Amino acid sequence: MAVDVILGLQWGDEGKGKIVDCLAPDYDVICRFQGGPNAGHTLKFEGKKHVLHTIPSGIFRENLKNVIGNGVVIDPITLARELDDVRKAGITPEDNLMVSRKAHLILPTHRMLDQASEAYKGSAKIGSTLRGIGPTYMDKTGRNGLRVGDLESPEFLQRYNALKEKHLVLLKIYPEIDFDLEAEEEKWLAKVEEMRSLKLIDGEYYINSLLSNGKNVLAEGAQGSMLDIDFGTYPYVTSSNTITPGACTGLGIAPSRIREVIGITKAYCTRVGSGPFPTELFDEDGDKLAKFGHEFGATTGRPRRCGWLDVPQLKYTIMINGVTQLVMTKIDVLDSFDEIKVSTSYSANDRKIEQLPFHVDDSLKPNWKVFRGWKRDLDDVKSVEDLPKDAKAYIDELESLIGVPFSMISTGPERKKLLKR
Ligand code: GDP
Ligand code: IMO
Ligand code: MG
Repeated sequence: MAVDVILGLQWGDEGKGKIVDCLAPDYDVICRFQGGPNAGHTLKFEGKKHVLHTIPSGIFRENLKNVIGNGVVIDPITLARELDDVRKAGITPEDNLMVSRKAHLILPTHRMLDQASEAYKGSAKIGSTLRGIGPTYMDKTGRNGLRVGDLESPEFLQRYNALKEKHLVLLKIYPEIDFDLEAEEEKWLAKVEEMRSLKLIDGEYYINSLLSNGKNVLAEGAQGSMLDIDFGTYPYVTSSNTITPGACTGLGIAPSRIREVIGITKAYCTRVGSGPFPTELFDEDGDKLAKFGHEFGATTGRPRRCGWLDVPQLKYTIMINGVTQLVMTKIDVLDSFDEIKVSTSYSANDRKIEQLPFHVDDSLKPNWKVFRGWKRDLDDVKSVEDLPKDAKAYIDELESLIGVPFSMISTGPERKKLLKR
């Protein structure tokens, strides 16, 4: 019938995994459409935490299909590890997981190139997760990549070797890095063999035939819109289109198939890695957000930078994505604050700025609106109506500043902690 898209409106880690897990029963299939193992999507239910990197967040639901779409880049080593983790949770992932033949493979030498390129950049490094994402997408657009469907060709090994050799030549321009290629290659080739037992599909035909048969599809975004290759804080971005149209190119569906665009924002803001972040805090409030929000990367474990919500930034990503519904996550992290701030515009060189300029840099100084904190634990809140007055005021005021309604408010990491409006 239709495709709904869930995506992050900030710099990633907005809680996409949790929201997809909560909404999954309303759909027939959950699809990842871009990114790869740079993503870390956390789900929490029945007292257990699960982190997914490549596998869609519907995998724990019975009778729900999951597709890794053509726009995703896959590392067979990480995928095998994830499949093992899912099996340990009592699920047989092969039953409900399908992989598009047109998805590209991350080679060990892609990871080497990522590491070497970052070493070469020195202090100007992107702060990449070093999962080989950039080099793999470069080979895709450079028309050199190796795809999942190539696994079915008798020439697979020959093609792998040709690409590896090219990478070894390229690596000569970079500083030497510590990487045991022989060991990683051995592991990779073994995991590639395991991948052959997965259901490899022509994803675009599969998804379109489901849609024609009245089924509903949920497209699960990775990263966030501010990390989008075109509209993010370039060059401090990832290498894919993380925004709504990424679901069309990353799955093979027409724009007219898209119904709801569900944009997720934290009640504050975080970023991992380098790059501008206008509302970043370097004070006690920033430390408190990091501490109460447990702000450490789900993929690399790096501490996340923290700051207040940024309205011009949110309006920008809502515009680009055509967001129809907003979700606020981690509102509970603000429970103990006396005051909560939101940037409603910036100032630079005595000028008020309400739109994100071409150069987002340290010259942008946020103009704050201050809200009163509710100073109450939200643990027992079961509906939006039960929220404290000051929490409601925060949500309502944001809605009027942003112009799109919040359809859901998440008050904790667990599956059941979701208030629907
Ligand atoms: P994703 O990459 O967008 O899926 O987000 P991550 O999983 O990387 O990071 C979100 C973190 O916040 C995870 O540890 C989640 O368990 C947690 N989380 C999600 N929603 C909430 C919430 O409403 N409150 C709190 N306190 N934690 C949440
Ligand atoms: P999820 O899906 C947060 C960041 C990295 C780095 C930049 C480029 O969990 O929200 P890359 O490895 O893509 O070359 O890194 O993007 N980054 C993320 N930050 N959440 C993510 O994914 C991210 N994926 C990449 O930290 O700054
Ligand atoms: Mg994450």
